Amino acid sequence: MNASEIRQKYLEFQEKKGHKVIAPAPLVLENDPTTLFTGSGMQPLLRFLLGETHPDGTRLTDSQPCLRLQDIDDVGDPRHTTVFEMLGNWSLGDYFKEEQIRNCFEFLTKEIGLNPEKIYVTCFIGNEKYGIPRDDQAAKIWQEVFKEAGIEAKIAEIGEAKIGDERGIKEGERIFFYNDKENWWSRGGGIESTPIGDPCGPDSEIFYDFGEDKQDVEKFGKSHPASDGARFMEIGNQVFMQYKRNEDGTFSELEKKNVDFGAGLERVAAAAIDSFDVFKISLLRPIIEKLEELSGKTYDNNTDEMRIIADHLRGAYLLASQGLAPSNKAQGYALRRLIRRAILKALDLGIAQDFMRETISTIEKEYNSLPDSILTNRENALSILEKEEHTFRQTLNKGLKELQKLTNKSEELTGHDLFKLQDTYGFPFEISVEEAFRQNIKLSKDYKKEFEEALEEQRNRSKTASKGMFKGGLEDHGEQTTKYHTATHLLLAALQKHIDSSICQKGSNITADRLRFDFNLDHKMTPEEIKTVEDQVNKWIKADLPVSFDEYDKDYAKNTLKAHGQFWEKYPDKLKVYTVGDFDNPTSREVCGGPHVEHTGVLGTFKIKKEESSSAGVRRIKAVLE
Ligand code: ALA
Repeated sequence: MNASEIRQKYLEFQEKKGHKVIAPAPLVLENDPTTLFTGSGMQPLLRFLLGETHPDGTRLTDSQPCLRLQDIDDVGDPRHTTVFEMLGNWSLGDYFKEEQIRNCFEFLTKEIGLNPEKIYVTCFIGNEKYGIPRDDQAAKIWQEVFKEAGIEAKIAEIGEAKIGDERGIKEGERIFFYNDKENWWSRGGGIESTPIGDPCGPDSEIFYDFGEDKQDVEKFGKSHPASDGARFMEIGNQVFMQYKRNEDGTFSELEKKNVDFGAGLERVAAAAIDSFDVFKISLLRPIIEKLEELSGKTYDNNTDEMRIIADHLRGAYLLASQGLAPSNKAQGYALRRLIRRAILKALDLGIAQDFMRETISTIEKEYNSLPDSILTNRENALSILEKEEHTFRQTLNKGLKELQKLTNKSEELTGHDLFKLQDTYGFPFEISVEEAFRQNIKLSKDYKKEFEEALEEQRNRSKTASKGMFKGGLEDHGEQTTKYHTATHLLLAALQKHIDSSICQKGSNITADRLRFDFNLDHKMTPEEIKTVEDQVNKWIKADLPVSFDEYDKDYAKNTLKAHGQFWEKYPDKLKVYTVGDFDNPTSREVCGGPHVEHTGVLGTFKIKKEESSSAGVRRIKAVLE
């Protein structure tokens, strides 16, 4: 069974079990400043996991494209990819451990046909400090499920999973208890780094056994599931999301207990063909074959490079086909980095000519089955990527010239020279070194060390700027962002009332420190206009207007309630509408997922800090609540 078939089978299976198939979210989430890209299936569903009612019910499923840049340095090994699809199913206060574990096992063994003997599982050992008990329930259910499959599953208590641990697996062991580093799930990681306000809980992971001969026992010791050898690969994770982290750091039980299940499609597909190398699956193998053809080299001898190129171009394709373009900021920069890294690795393989067109057309075919609603810009993806390819090749040429100039000036090049080439001209260190060798240019004795020093200095300078963004570090999801959400609605209403009734939202980005709002307007706002809008918002805040919401049919929301919205074609049939003020004569009424404050009085004082051009015909306001 190939990856596309597995995706389809999974969604059909979950539908049979009463789940509603929902549309996956884009990789760049609107109004979510916490991570650069959607990193898990649960992320777009956060507020429903915290108790809000989902219009599609209490059983949901999808296949969510995800991008985890924090894994970029691991790409090159047989199992890590930055971009992947997460097969997900959720119980929102509906079924819990028993039904989840049974369904998951049934899907993997009966639908996909994995051999139950090759499945090993892990459970949470408990945490005394926070009073969270050991998950004996899950372990017991697993024992029954295995027993029904004719397997006696013994329990092993490990605690901390250590690399190089010689323990291995003892006769009959199949269920392993680990601490929170392995078996606690929150968006921040282990129990101590669970973000305030986030849902979380113990999890139970499923591992596939590729056999002891696959592992490097010298390097990793004898494996048990989570000890990081090559023998086992995690293919799925069931989070029993029953807690929420409080402001004071403690945990309390959620009123409704949820299940958040996620399985890496690529990894399940690898298990299905019994290959511990995910790059052999149907979504990735054709890209590797294309690279073999273009370079005239073999995958076996150039494994890491080919894996990196395949991974990065697939990620770049998905981003570009969702409408993202390379830039020097945030998501656009990440896309640029993926493309450029792929081109450099291709150079290592000796592919010096343009290769975007050929590789991307291979990737495109693999994604034929993803709907247009997710790949909204697929027809322009190739031209976006090719443009970047050309720009980068020019950069490389320019870098070569600069290198020549430096060489003409002095006898030898120092690490500082090489750093300057990289930092100012984007000409990578490795390429400089190669060129130097090729042209017999002398390098200073300590060029590597000098380069590292210069790099380190620069890193220290920029550390604060990027902190949190790549590590999946989460900003405050709580009160402050919620306030800014509501303030944004008031701002739009004030602009429509006092500046132009045809103004609508062109973009919005909210953090715990400010709101940023883009809207259509053909002129720079005058200081008087800014003051009028500011005063109006503050007047509404002082009036302490109520904020309410409900779910409606799309037609009713649009035509009867006259809610403000800008993506009517894209909205689902049922949607949520927020009203500020009197229901029959609202101050603001917008289609919105929320969350919002309950009444405007809590917002404080609204202040516009900046009004500037964002792009042609679009203005941008930055404002704060003081
Ligand atoms: N949200 C869980 C994960 O990402 C399923 O592993």
